[in-house]
Amino acid sequence: MTAEQYRELMRKRLDAELYEHSLATAETAAELAVRYGSKREKAYLAGLVHDYGKRLKRRQLLEVAESYNLKLDRITMGEAKLLHAPVGAALLTEELKINNRELLNAVSFHTTGSSGMTLLARVLYLADCIEPGRTFDGVDKIRELAAIDLEQALLAAVDKTICSVVARGLKLHPRSVAFRNSLLDQMKK
Ligand SMILES: [Fe+2]
Ligand SMILES: [Fe+2]
Repeated sequence: MTAEQYRELMRKRLDAELYEHSLATAETAAELAVRYGSKREKAYLAGLVHDYGKRLKRRQLLEVAESYNLKLDRITMGEAKLLHAPVGAALLTEELKINNRELLNAVSFHTTGSSGMTLLARVLYLADCIEPGRTFDGVDKIRELAAIDLEQALLAAVDKTICSVVARGLKLHPRSVAFRNSLLDQMKK
């Protein structure tokens, strides 16, 4: 499929707001990929499709997870905001025949992050956080960091995510903590 065909498919699948977010994430991921030496087209596609599962309700997400026999942890199973990432990745394989492991992993981890993420997964995580439609407090600082230092920007992004998860009284996923710690370890070297 061409990029145009993927855009058309996502436009039909998502609501207008989420489609705008997906386009903006794709553009931002493509820019970050060029800046930090990841593949531009793959980063664009990852950004475009990363929220493929997002319009499904928790019950539907769980049904898909069960039908594909996905092995998911209890925290992920309990929260649609987390479930849409791994279930979305599974749907991309089943429905769009996307089989690229690196792209699917990037989509799977775009909400929690993870230690040992590939460059593509890092680019997607950051793009999702700082695309131009994002307006949360502190986003400009993360954008500034993204222009000069990928690790610093990722650390600021995951810190922001962890703080907002805690502030909303939600369960913190251990993969987010592992992601943060791995960034700190890398920055020491
Ligand atoms: Fe998402
Ligand atoms: Fe997103």
